[in-house]
Amino acid sequence: MEITRNSRLKDVIKTASGHDIIARLLYSLGMDLDAVRRTPLGLLKIGSLKRLSFGKLSDASVDALIEILNSLKDEDPGEDGTVRHEWWKEAVFYQVYPRSFRDSNADGVGDIPGIIEKLDYIKSLGVDAIWCSPFYDSPNADNGYDIRDYRKIMAEFGTLDDVRRLIDECHARGIRLIIDLVMNHTSDEHEWFRKALAGDEGYMDYYIWKDEPNNWTSFFSGPAWKYFPQTGRYALHLFADKQMDLNWDNPQVRREMYDIADFWLDLGADGFRLDVVSFISKADGLPDGDPTVGKLISFTGIEHYFHGPHLDEYLREFNREVLEPHGAYTVGECPGNGIRMSRMITGDDRGELSQLFSFDHIDNPGKKRFDVYDLDLRKMMPELLRWQTEYSDHCWPTIFFDNHDNPRMCSKIDHAGRYHDQINKLLATILLTMKGTPYIYQGSEIGMTDYPFTDLSQYRDIESLNYFDEQTGKGMTQKEAMQRLLYGSRDHARIPMQWDGTSAAGFSDAEPWIGVNPDHVTVNVADEYFDPDSVLNFYRYMIGLRKDHKKALIYGSFRRIDAGKDVLAFIREANERFTVVVNLTGGTAKRPKGISGDRIISNYSDPGSMLRPYEAEVYFSRI
Ligand code: NOJ
Repeated sequence: MEITRNSRLKDVIKTASGHDIIARLLYSLGMDLDAVRRTPLGLLKIGSLKRLSFGKLSDASVDALIEILNSLKDEDPGEDGTVRHEWWKEAVFYQVYPRSFRDSNADGVGDIPGIIEKLDYIKSLGVDAIWCSPFYDSPNADNGYDIRDYRKIMAEFGTLDDVRRLIDECHARGIRLIIDLVMNHTSDEHEWFRKALAGDEGYMDYYIWKDEPNNWTSFFSGPAWKYFPQTGRYALHLFADKQMDLNWDNPQVRREMYDIADFWLDLGADGFRLDVVSFISKADGLPDGDPTVGKLISFTGIEHYFHGPHLDEYLREFNREVLEPHGAYTVGECPGNGIRMSRMITGDDRGELSQLFSFDHIDNPGKKRFDVYDLDLRKMMPELLRWQTEYSDHCWPTIFFDNHDNPRMCSKIDHAGRYHDQINKLLATILLTMKGTPYIYQGSEIGMTDYPFTDLSQYRDIESLNYFDEQTGKGMTQKEAMQRLLYGSRDHARIPMQWDGTSAAGFSDAEPWIGVNPDHVTVNVADEYFDPDSVLNFYRYMIGLRKDHKKALIYGSFRRIDAGKDVLAFIREANERFTVVVNLTGGTAKRPKGISGDRIISNYSDPGSMLRPYEAEVYFSRI
């Protein structure tokens, strides 16, 4: 379908790219796609986006948008009506951030032997698989997401033998291990880049160069281009200026990556989490981005690489060459791809990735990570629910609330901390009863919260530090910039795992590389382990429930019950029925009528006549 200025929004959203981009634009303007689907707004022509955006989108931006929409692919996966059963659809994953998990050698930094030490704990949660963030040799500009050597281990973390042992010890416990592979970029200290700088033309073509930079901006502030006097040209870095984007249009680069992936699968890894893999293909000619469209989606230029022209082709090649022969699982990090474009990447018959992470539910419509606000769960639901009902049975969602790139969800919802216990249990309830593969981030299972940062010197993350410099450089007061960091910094998720109430929370016998949250004296594994009311035991119960009732809770149907805007209620059903009722607010709310079955778990012990703040409950009945 050719989109023109006269196309109506309701028709534009019938295409995959139209659907996802319009949804994303509306989202960043504080609206939900349902507004276009269910109200007369859908009859408006695409040109009226200018008005809908309160003038943020100019006529030129609307034209740029139309051009982008017409250039993006629109394919849908096939639907043959059957649901394939796979181990990863039945698994619960646990993400480990090695730097902050457990320090075994008292240097203040977590390490691989530290993870091995804690495998019995991970097993005791009932999880089936671990995603381990990068552990490769790296100068650590971005905590290991800047890889210097893909076949070596970061010295602070241990050795290749330690990783071999980690794989074996995981397998001995029946736990699968997927590792984090960064294929979009390498460190500027990688030998390929060094050779490129030394004038080797073959290696120059491993990276992306321009004589004059375009206007793309980096995710970590400032322009996405760095000038290198050695070559007299600018090299692209979508992230830090030490993370150089690889040129995936060069078949040799793809071959190198496939060999690296083979190396790790041969060593015994069960698959990969692929870092920003949706960014690997960039539009031909690297055109300027439309400043408004890009910014509304996230960053200037992103429309030219979030689902680039060769993405599906390269993913299919990677799958054919590497994943398929090893029977490996993959979950891709795919920011910018909404539900319809994600179906193109994960459909059963597409031969690309097993699953992906999408991020729109992580912030409320109209809000960005550094905004100072309390997240409203009611506003999160339309996006989350769409993945339950519209992703189709041929794609399998991932479900997560926390990871290493976001503040803790319980803090985001309730910065004052009045209801953290209830909220953590509420999140566990949703995570483990919805359809899809749950990912638990280390520490969420004990209810870890944001760190009370008060000074810039306490931050470590390059994104936070660059953000502070950029914003204050543009005139923001230091006070406001500090407040925004406090709400959005990734460092909240990177503070040490809280094992006990001792001074470094049982993470290390030395001074940890980043502050330990003072709340570790009460929020920690040791104290929660035997406490029947702890967040930890709530998680364990919910994981056990999910595994004991696979038919209903994993493969069963998902049906929403109308319960008003403050309450989420849904049924998962096969041979048995689970009814989940959640008060999405910090006030009281009416329990929907006609809920039947036994109330088997809740974050409040006795059932009240009304739902109390953030009350979550699960009812069970045989059918
Ligand atoms: C996404 C990762 O999750 C994040 O931590 C990292 O900074 C960027 N990709 C760049 O690799």
